[in-house]
Order: sequence, then structure tokens, then C-alpha cells
Amino acid sequence: MESSPPLTNLLSIHELTRAQLLLILATAQKYKSLMAESIRYQPVLHGKTIGLLFYEPSTRTRCSFELACRYLGAHYISIAKAGSSFVKGETLKDTVWNLRAMGVDLLVMRHPVSGAAHYLSQKLDIPIVNAGDGMHAHPTQALLDIFTMQEHIGTLENKVIAIVGDIRHSRVARSNIHALTKLGAQVRLVAPPTFIPPGIEQLGAKVYQNIEEALSADIIMALRIQKERQLSGYIPSTGEYARLFGLNQSCFNTNSEGLIMHPGPINRGVELTSEIADSNRSLILKQIPNGVAVRMAILATLLGGHQNE
Ligand code: CP
Repeated sequence: MESSPPLTNLLSIHELTRAQLLLILATAQKYKSLMAESIRYQPVLHGKTIGLLFYEPSTRTRCSFELACRYLGAHYISIAKAGSSFVKGETLKDTVWNLRAMGVDLLVMRHPVSGAAHYLSQKLDIPIVNAGDGMHAHPTQALLDIFTMQEHIGTLENKVIAIVGDIRHSRVARSNIHALTKLGAQVRLVAPPTFIPPGIEQLGAKVYQNIEEALSADIIMALRIQKERQLSGYIPSTGEYARLFGLNQSCFNTNSEGLIMHPGPINRGVELTSEIADSNRSLILKQIPNGVAVRMAILATLLGGHQNE
């Protein structure tokens, strides 16, 4: 294993060294193997308290962090935007300073503003985990995605990964591009021109507008159209998008044996059909337990838990 400087926050994949990334994946593999033997409870964070601050909706990320806290023996407190004192005008900084004063040892946060996790990391003396900030980064999702890819296709060196969909508004796409290129994969981005952000090729990915070319990949990751982040119409209609860029059985008859992934939530009939989402080439539900193992690894690494075992 390459030597790794200690991790102090997890704000983006871009800021992770390759060695830190590999350490998280190796630790996640250890937790996944234990879970496969029905050994879920590894109380290496006994006595620690973790804040889960979600200012945007979430099912997978929030629930998997909650489970990760429980399995590691930590206490957690969950704060959603609705129902918090945000609605009475409290600033983000004051909210997290109050949580810190209660004894929170690490903060997981999701926020609609890009850069919010970096901002808080400068205001707090505890580790911050970015659980998604605006269109910027979703590092824990990318880590579970590459963990799942490696589980199914082995090393990612020179493997072809196609990411299809709303790249422009996707923090998942950006984080995956950084992670995949660090591990030597070839990344293809497939979308209508309006969904391709200017300069994205500089991250090391190639842009395609023809879905046929992109589908001869080892993995095809579909992305949701992020209507909540769009100021105006980028596509004529979801029906038109589904016709030209949606994954369906006819895309695959001749072109590809690639495996299908999606970070969720999926929109059936838009970015992919149910036939594809529920097929035996789909890894979508296999990504979910990997999210728990990866998030256990991240929390244990940041709070020094895996050194205490
Ligand atoms: N993939 C993902 O972040 O899902 P949630 O929004 O449900 O957490």
C-alpha cells in the first residue's frame, strides 16, 4: 500500500491523494467482508458523536451514514433544514458552532451551495465530510461507485466507464471523473450539448454526443436530470431526452455488455427503463450496501477508529 498523509477532512476527491483513496477502499473492503459474515457491529467509534446535517433531501446518503454510525458504535444527531432553527434565521456557521458546543466530533453535511463544506471546514476544528455540495462534489458517492466497479470488473486501469446524462449539474459526475482518472480509467461523457459543462475535458474525460459510441464501455453510469438545479430548460422535454439518451434494451442488443450503475434516485422511463434498471446487468442495488461499508471506512479513518482495532 502507498504511504498516505493522514486524512483530516473529506471535502472532494480532487483533494484526496491516490494513497488516501486506496486506503479508504481497502478499509471499506474490510468492513464489507465482515458484513458478509454477518459481523456488522465494529464499535471502534464508541463514545464519539457525529452530526449529520442535511440541508437537501437524501435517502441513500443520510441513511447509510446513520447505519455506519450505528455499526461503528458512535452516537449521531440528524439535522434537516426543515425543522431546524435555519427557518428562524440562524446562519449555517452558528448552527454548526452550536453542534460543536454539544460535543459533536465530526460533521457530515449536505448543502445546496457549492463550497459550503469547504467554508465550514475553515470555521470548525473537527473533520467535515462533504455529503454533496451543490453541483461541486459528492466524494462519498464516487468512492462507493469505484468500490462497486472494482468489485465487479477488477482493476480500473484502462477500463472504459461511460457517464450518461446531466453532467452539467452533477456533483456525482465530477467526483467520479476525478476518482476514475486517478485510478487510470478512461472516462466517456455522453449527453446533449446543453448538459456538457464547458471545459470538462480538462478533467481528463472525453465527450461524446452519440450514445452508440459510448455504450461500448465496461460500465455505463446513468445520471438523473437534476431539475432542482436548472434555471431554464436545457432539453426540449424529458420524453425527447429519453428517446435520444435514455438507456433501454434496444441500446444494448448489439453494442455493449457493459454493466449499469446509477447513483440514485432513478427516474424510471427517463434516464433508463425499468427493464434495464431491474436487469441482471444492473449494479444499482449492489451500490447500496457498498455505500454503508465505504461510509464506515470514511468515518473510522477520519476519527482514527481503524487504528484502534
Ligand atoms: N446518490 C445519492 O446521493 O442519493 P441520495 O440523494 O438519496 O442521498
